[in-house]
Amino acid sequence: MYLDNDDERVLAGEFGETRQKMMEILVALGEVYGAEKLVPITSAQVSGASYKTIGKWGLAWLQSLNARAAVPAVLNPIGMPREGWQEFGIDEEFARRQEEVVEAYRKLGIRVECTCTPYYLRITEYGEHLAWSESSAVAYANSVLGARTNREGGPSALAAAIVGKTPYYGLHVVENRRPQIVVEVECGTGPHAGHWGGIGHVAGKKVGNKIPIFQGIRPNRDQLKALGAAMAATGAVALFHVDKITPESRVFTFDTDNLDRVTVTADEVEALFTETEVEAVAVGCPHCSADELRELAELLRGKTTTKPFYIFAARGVAKHNPDLVSVIERSGARVIPDTCMVVSPRMDEFASIMVDSGKALAYVPGMCGALARIGTRKECVEVATS
Ligand code: F3S
Repeated sequence: MYLDNDDERVLAGEFGETRQKMMEILVALGEVYGAEKLVPITSAQVSGASYKTIGKWGLAWLQSLNARAAVPAVLNPIGMPREGWQEFGIDEEFARRQEEVVEAYRKLGIRVECTCTPYYLRITEYGEHLAWSESSAVAYANSVLGARTNREGGPSALAAAIVGKTPYYGLHVVENRRPQIVVEVECGTGPHAGHWGGIGHVAGKKVGNKIPIFQGIRPNRDQLKALGAAMAATGAVALFHVDKITPESRVFTFDTDNLDRVTVTADEVEALFTETEVEAVAVGCPHCSADELRELAELLRGKTTTKPFYIFAARGVAKHNPDLVSVIERSGARVIPDTCMVVSPRMDEFASIMVDSGKALAYVPGMCGALARIGTRKECVEVATS
């Protein structure tokens, strides 16, 4: 892999041991994947932020590093809200460890905005190179924004943040971003027709790690977010196109005549939905947009919750929408920043959780040891208040 003079000096240790180690990670990755060079990035999003997922060895590794991020970088959700973790039911030992993780990242110059929706906080332009690691954020950045990122692991995203570059391979290269399989969606007329998390949950299993192009659908940005997050969870989708909707399908003419085709049927989507009793309800996977908070506030206005109802959103999004948060919280529901239903140990305490997300439906059983039921946001509110 070609390295310029500055890269070589970093690799030789002229800018400290941590930068040198980080460059070694990037060079090793680039050589494994046949990258021709490193490319500068405009931002990084670093996973491996919850103490639940990285544990004491991950924390010790972070504390051994000594450098500052060279580009704007944020964290993925951590295991608890940074304030009010006691009320959220987090024990002191976990909280202390989690704070140490946050402090280690802060010292490395990573902004402690802990979210899988960093695109709500900082404008990301078409064609920008990024090093993001949370799978739904990667799918959104590539597909909805037209930016370019591979699905980084936590260490490689951190290495890219500190060096300010990432290996140029995979989805950074325009030729590798063409669609590989066509997906048709049978709309149907059932109660869950047009549930984009459900459609993505089914589609991800059918397309695996190929780049799909959807035809004949017109989802909005929040619906694209739900679709991509679910496909990244049940498949390994890091980029998808929607004909005439997503940016690259408008810039390029894709020849799809010779591609394999699959159909997501209305019956397959409907089969995901059950009437199972649940102990808690959680929405905001990925973290809610302002529009999604608005919808929830309208659904909850004047109602009272009868079971724990957690709504996850980036701290910045919640802070800019205090009126919506206050309507939601008057019902007894809680808007929780910084963490999520999958990476927080709080959610491990429930035996069954209702979600509105195709990604959470896939992850909650394994990550929280709970039975997961999926519904629309309206159904989630009905169950949480009945
Ligand atoms: Fe985000 Fe957690 Fe879901 S990181 S996409 S809310 S599993």
